[in-house]
Amino acid sequence: MAPPLAAPAVRALRPRVRETAEELVRPLAWRPEVELVEGFAAPFPLLVVAGLLGVEAGRWPWFRAEALALQQAGGTRGDRSPAGLARADRAAAELDAYFRAEPAARRTEDRGDLLSAFAAAAVQDPSLGTTALTSTCVHLLTAGHETTTGLIGKAVLALLARPEVTEELRADPGLLPKAVDEFLRHDPPVQMITRWAHRDTALAGRSVRRGDRVQLVLGSALRDPERFPDPETLDFHRDSGRHVAFGLGIHYCVGAALARAEAEIGLGTLLDRLPALRSGARPRVEVEYAPDWVFHDPSRLALTG
Ligand code: HEM
Repeated sequence: MAPPLAAPAVRALRPRVRETAEELVRPLAWRPEVELVEGFAAPFPLLVVAGLLGVEAGRWPWFRAEALALQQAGGTRGDRSPAGLARADRAAAELDAYFRAEPAARRTEDRGDLLSAFAAAAVQDPSLGTTALTSTCVHLLTAGHETTTGLIGKAVLALLARPEVTEELRADPGLLPKAVDEFLRHDPPVQMITRWAHRDTALAGRSVRRGDRVQLVLGSALRDPERFPDPETLDFHRDSGRHVAFGLGIHYCVGAALARAEAEIGLGTLLDRLPALRSGARPRVEVEYAPDWVFHDPSRLALTG
């Protein structure tokens, strides 16, 4: 899975990502009131990941509805009602059926998408069973969607609260890669990750027993004053070096290069085209957050004027 998501492949994808951003922002550029999550931040990464996998465009609304229903019942989300869980079960079954059928349809035809690459990998390595491939597709869909939605939503909120920083970015779009890195550090879309101890050990003076669950709060590590001086300040000139917004080690985010490219292109397009982010604009901002400790992102971000 890594080569099609590595930096060279992502560079080649950039024009398509830009086209997707432009298409989504076009209708927003004329509206006095915009709901940015529904209108841009959510569909943008989903359409990119759907295109990358090779899901046909006509299926994208279905794809998004199922992805959201599935995520609703996971993580620390509130909807654990029987109806919410039943809906998530149906979504899991639908996505499972879709991703079981699609690689099979590509076994004889390389369509240049990720599903074709997975189909070819399964032919080369028979130990890669259908269940592994199907769950990888579903994981890619969920891991590559809400995270980037959160990054864009939080970055726009941070910019709206800091007109001078926005002005700086508008004047020098070359700062966008550093800005994205700082948005990731300042308010990471994945606030926590989890590990289960394989053996008894000690961690920062606390004993951890085999089987214990350890919750790592990335959002806290990224505001550690010993590591990041003046950590509450959003500073695009900070030299953060390597940080943990995409995790570390063998589970380091395989989509990091894509996520950075999406955020640079998405935020650059919004800065160019969204009236609420124009120089001197003072829009009214209404924000609601997802009731989720891990993905604590704006679920609604309405900008008026
Ligand atoms: C701003 C956007 C993103 C953030 C902040 C983010 C963050 C993370 C983090 C923290 C992990 C490590 C989880 C752990 O160690 O338990 C991770 C893993 C992962 N991410 Fe991302 N991610 C983002 C975007 C994406 C995208 C766009 C994709 C795919 C298209 C993706 C696919 C994955 C996958 C498959 C893993 C699991 C890797 C493994 O376990 O080996 N992510 N991500």
